[in-house]
Amino acid sequence: MEKQRKVILSFSDRDREPIEFPILSGTTGPDVIDIRSLHGKSGMFTYDPGYLSTASCTSQITYIDGEAGVLLYRGYPIEQLAKQCDFLEVCYLLLNGELPNATQKTKFDDTIKRHSMVHDQLASFFKGFRRDAHPMAVMVGVVGALSAFYHEAMDISDASHREVSAYRLIAKVPTIVAMCYKYNIGQPFMYPRNALNYVENFFHMMFATPAGDYKLNPVLVRALDRILILHADHEQNASTSTVRLAGSSGANPFACLSAGIACLWGPAHGGANEACLNMLGQIGDVSRIGEYIKRAKDKDDPFRLMGFGHRVYKNYDPRAKLMRETCHEVLNELGLQNDRLFKLALALEKVALEDEYFTSRKLYPNVDFYSGIVQRALGIPVSMFTAIFALARTVGWIAQWNEMISDPEYRIGRPRQLYNGAVKRDVVPISQRK
Ligand code: CMC
Repeated sequence: MEKQRKVILSFSDRDREPIEFPILSGTTGPDVIDIRSLHGKSGMFTYDPGYLSTASCTSQITYIDGEAGVLLYRGYPIEQLAKQCDFLEVCYLLLNGELPNATQKTKFDDTIKRHSMVHDQLASFFKGFRRDAHPMAVMVGVVGALSAFYHEAMDISDASHREVSAYRLIAKVPTIVAMCYKYNIGQPFMYPRNALNYVENFFHMMFATPAGDYKLNPVLVRALDRILILHADHEQNASTSTVRLAGSSGANPFACLSAGIACLWGPAHGGANEACLNMLGQIGDVSRIGEYIKRAKDKDDPFRLMGFGHRVYKNYDPRAKLMRETCHEVLNELGLQNDRLFKLALALEKVALEDEYFTSRKLYPNVDFYSGIVQRALGIPVSMFTAIFALARTVGWIAQWNEMISDPEYRIGRPRQLYNGAVKRDVVPISQRK
């Protein structure tokens, strides 16, 4: 029998015996020190703002090796999934742990289709928003409002209720995203169409109007499908951890997803592709790359090369390679090979990758360096980019939420703190205060 490995913590400033903690191993990736008994044994907490060294849960869904540039969903490399599967197959995989066979896939696709319409009353929520409201502001409100429509399936301890909530969210979020866009530009909402597949239907709800026919382009459909696959899950990132923390109190999945959307909205998380596109516009021309590279290296200048660097990927972002490929395909299809921003992006990437500042810091293009260019070419306005990210990540959030609720070790999330404020003192009557 394998001997249980332990780590021994000794306290240099305290008169006490060293304490042993077990080391836990996953199927791959770094081991973790199980410090759950630390407070009970020592009266101390650990301090780790930003969770730089803390695993908050166990999970079987997504694995990232940032040094090697590896991203696996349920063990499958992202490259294989992006090239051989469609988004709904990936959704099935993330939710169930295995890829569907042909019968399971047909059934799953049909189930999602059956849930894609939203309750007609949900449409009236939109009227409460200004036409120019940011789509993410509308998403936070409207996705949260879904909580009010499904009382019959809100028992989170019931696996069948959790399952139908997952179907509802995966099916209805695209409808809501498209409604945000239509409301913003003042066009009528388009109902979903069951004859179309998931991504085709999204294009239809976004760009068709009741007045005319809308022709789908399979190359563009495939490109959006790939964007969705690449963003479907990314283990315990900020928005996913938010969904888990909100869900740990027993909150319903629609409310938890709304919390995740709010977190994703932040510019350090879901807003990077928008920022990258704005940066390329600001640089404007290949002749100005040198100037901006210099600014990115200047510690006194807050400017950073958007779409470069990643907290986890310190070699390359595997999603960026796939997105670069898609970028070529889409621009070729649309006859935009000479697109100014794409050419600029390629030139900028080349200069940065040959520059010692970027190579020594392991700063490589991330997925968002190219996804903004692709989305813009698909006709998606910049203000909708983060909403598309939310659409893609919905399955990751709900799969992670479901995993947490099903975990026998699941407890309400409750971090502790290092208190640094005033110590106990007495209230002085107001007349005596200085
Ligand atoms: N441009 C110029 N210098 C940079 C950049 C950049 N984009 N990114 C990092 N650095 C420098 C940074 O100044 C620091 O230099 P030094 O060691 O001399 O102080 C060093 O590289 C390490 O940077 P860091 O900020 O400590 O690294 P981090 O892991 O905390 O930050 C990051 C990662 C993604 C926030 C950062 O690289 C960044 O701001 N990138 C631009 C924004 C961006 O593209 N974000 C999208 C992330 S992908 C979306 C997702 O997966 O959710």
